[in-house]
Amino acid sequence: MKILLFGSGAREHALYETLKNSKLLGENDIYFAKTGAFAPFNVIEFCDYYELAKKARDIGINLLIVGPEAPLADGICDVFLKFKINVIGANSYWAQLESSKSFAKSFMKKFNIKTANYFLIEDISQIDGALLKFTNPPVIKADGLAQGKGVYLPKTFEEAKNVAKDFLGGKFGNSSKKIILEQRLFGRELSVFSLWDGKTLKSFSPACDFKKLLDDDKGENTGGMGSAYPCKLSDFELNEVNNYLKKLNDALSLSKADFCGVVYSGLMMCNEGLYVLEYNMRFGDPEIQSVLDNFCGDILDVFLKMVDGKLDEIDFKFKEEPSYCVVLASCGYPFSPQTGCEIFNLEAAKKYGVKVLLAGVKKLEGKYYTNGGRVLSLVKSGKNALLDIYKAAQEIKFDGKIYRKDIRLR
Ligand code: AMP
Ligand code: GLY
Repeated sequence: MKILLFGSGAREHALYETLKNSKLLGENDIYFAKTGAFAPFNVIEFCDYYELAKKARDIGINLLIVGPEAPLADGICDVFLKFKINVIGANSYWAQLESSKSFAKSFMKKFNIKTANYFLIEDISQIDGALLKFTNPPVIKADGLAQGKGVYLPKTFEEAKNVAKDFLGGKFGNSSKKIILEQRLFGRELSVFSLWDGKTLKSFSPACDFKKLLDDDKGENTGGMGSAYPCKLSDFELNEVNNYLKKLNDALSLSKADFCGVVYSGLMMCNEGLYVLEYNMRFGDPEIQSVLDNFCGDILDVFLKMVDGKLDEIDFKFKEEPSYCVVLASCGYPFSPQTGCEIFNLEAAKKYGVKVLLAGVKKLEGKYYTNGGRVLSLVKSGKNALLDIYKAAQEIKFDGKIYRKDIRLR
């Protein structure tokens, strides 16, 4: 058994740490494409997905696991399937649930899945008329992928109009040629990761992502500054989530969704019930860092059952105590993070039993340097896990280090 892991962030590092414990793999059986500082070995270089698939076939790789969204949207899984290599990841058609907000909205509408009211706008002349339909300034969303930056929450109608114009005018190139104006919702956000094998949907409990840059949920929206798993849920909330997942299962079944991969539902629990904010077709970062740390069992076994269409035979098991992830980021994140600073004392984490997952990190001559906005994920499970994570967070040093001090179960 040989597998290929695609992607370079802390999410992929978490997958690697989990996969390398699999009893089904030898030490040298994991290969990497577009890898990060966590695995600079067994790397397959390529110019396009055909070349990558050809090399993977020649090496004898049996399974591709795709971390990020862009290669899914670009059809990496379609190419690997042509080469008869199994994949964990949606084909380009189903990747549209993430790569096209209008595709996702139509899917939800068709299957009666509750989501915020919206208007699809393709021309600047439509903006004024659409804005009149909202009582509060709507959320502006680029239809396509925009590296997590394509959603804007304006405070006034005037700002909404300007941002809508900016998006349509090409702020995100083709990705914002179409935009969505969407009713703003208020509530608590949950991330639910589901696995789909073409017939069966199995979901992890909701995880919480701390999206805002600063403590008390203040500051800019980010890719996520920390996570905790599992979320605390009231009976009402649990019931809403379960009803929603049943609907999602039915929607995928009725659509004969022919892919084997992840569906990540970005949900908002509002007073009047649960709404879907968005779909992603990959695991969320940093939520998956906590989820995988909490997971008991062999994740590769789960993936192999998926490609055999036997996900129904799997029962997920988790630790009794929760898991946490705190992200150490570079000052200037999310807009213009400072990079190139040396990272000191990474080994402090070991002392506290904290796992360090590398994201925006570059390794040069044995030293580690910051190389992006979110630099490290510190992960641990158990009763005193948060205390230990925060001790490590303090002792690991780099210029401009920022992190939230209020990650917790909620
Ligand atoms: P999305 O990429 O659609 O999940 O949007 C990114 C973030 O923007 C979400 O995680 C929410 O925090 C926020 N957001 C998106 N849509 C809405 C909405 N309709 N109402 C309020 N906040 C939203
Ligand atoms: N944590 C949010 C995301 O991965 O998109």
